[in-house]
Amino acid sequence: MTTILVTGGAGFIGSHTVIELVKAGYEPIIFDNFSNAKPAVLARIHKICGKRVPCCFGDIRVRQQLETVFKENKIDGVIHFAGLKAVGESVKKPLEYYDNNVNGSRVLLEVMRDYKCSNFIFSSSATVYGEPDKVPLTEDSPVKRANSPYGQTKIDIEYMAEELQRAIPEFSVTLLRYFNPVGAHESGLIGEDPRGIPNNLMPYLTQVAVGKLPILNIFGNDYPTKDGTCIRDYIHVVDLALGHVAAIKHCLNQGGVHIYNLGTGIGYSVLDMVNAFSKAIGRELPHQFAPRRAGDVVQCYADPSKAARELNWKAVRTLEDMTRDSYNWQKNNPNGYDD
Ligand code: WQD
Repeated sequence: MTTILVTGGAGFIGSHTVIELVKAGYEPIIFDNFSNAKPAVLARIHKICGKRVPCCFGDIRVRQQLETVFKENKIDGVIHFAGLKAVGESVKKPLEYYDNNVNGSRVLLEVMRDYKCSNFIFSSSATVYGEPDKVPLTEDSPVKRANSPYGQTKIDIEYMAEELQRAIPEFSVTLLRYFNPVGAHESGLIGEDPRGIPNNLMPYLTQVAVGKLPILNIFGNDYPTKDGTCIRDYIHVVDLALGHVAAIKHCLNQGGVHIYNLGTGIGYSVLDMVNAFSKAIGRELPHQFAPRRAGDVVQCYADPSKAARELNWKAVRTLEDMTRDSYNWQKNNPNGYDD
């Protein structure tokens, strides 16, 4: 059996990945401080995959809490999701982001090194590319100084892991750069449950659709794109989760550094998303144009061919799947896991 520690495994992408790990025959162990997740997700995971997934409450910054897990289990690899991820919040609280994300990752890598666990798969982000010079983005596109502390922590953690691998050649580092994760498990039992008012487009759309929010503000319609709104590569969270399973299958114990863009390769504008969502709910979703949001890039979408070639992985779920599953989750859980 291959045991995989999933830090932040109770979160949105983490919980979906845990389910796909179980389905693929791996033994995941969740490690989470529940600062941005609800314990109710554990029962939902159990219901979906038919088994209880062990969960250790803990904070990656607290070495002793991590060591307990490594002492009590033979951990073959770690998928590292745990971290703060709100772009706007990171601008207001840069030190908290450096402490949680970079310092926490440092402690995790130290414990992995000391317990000879040499497979590190990191939840990185397309945000490391900053404002792209050209699209689609490949893994060789330049990594730029990020336009938020959140994005910079992703760059710093990538660099820290690469340097550790350089120091310990048998260490295997896989950096998965996500584009825009959306959607939910088809059961409607797990999904995105942001704290407070959502920053991201899709959870905002779903909350407007269920009447929790009155109207969507579209941040800018004067960008140099087909309809003036920003373009992103939205990827279904289940496709993303399967990308992690593919990465484990192909990278475990291989040594070296492996970098993959996990996106669909298709760019959709904000208006495309609003129209797709209106179609999914069978009525016009209330929306209005508002000023641009600081820090937004005009367009960002992936060239996912390297993951297809090397991981034998490709996103297959469509925009209709993403909108349907996002809405299904929100309809069944108007207050997220608090229901
Ligand atoms: C998408 C588009 C907005 C909300 C961020 C992070 C990235 C990752 C995903 C964590 C943009 C527009 C949004 C709204 C809007 N985060 N929008 N009205 O900014 O591409 O990426 O989330 O892993 O690292 O940077 O995603 O969903 O916030 O925005 O018009 O109420 O939707 O302007 O064009 P983004 P997003």
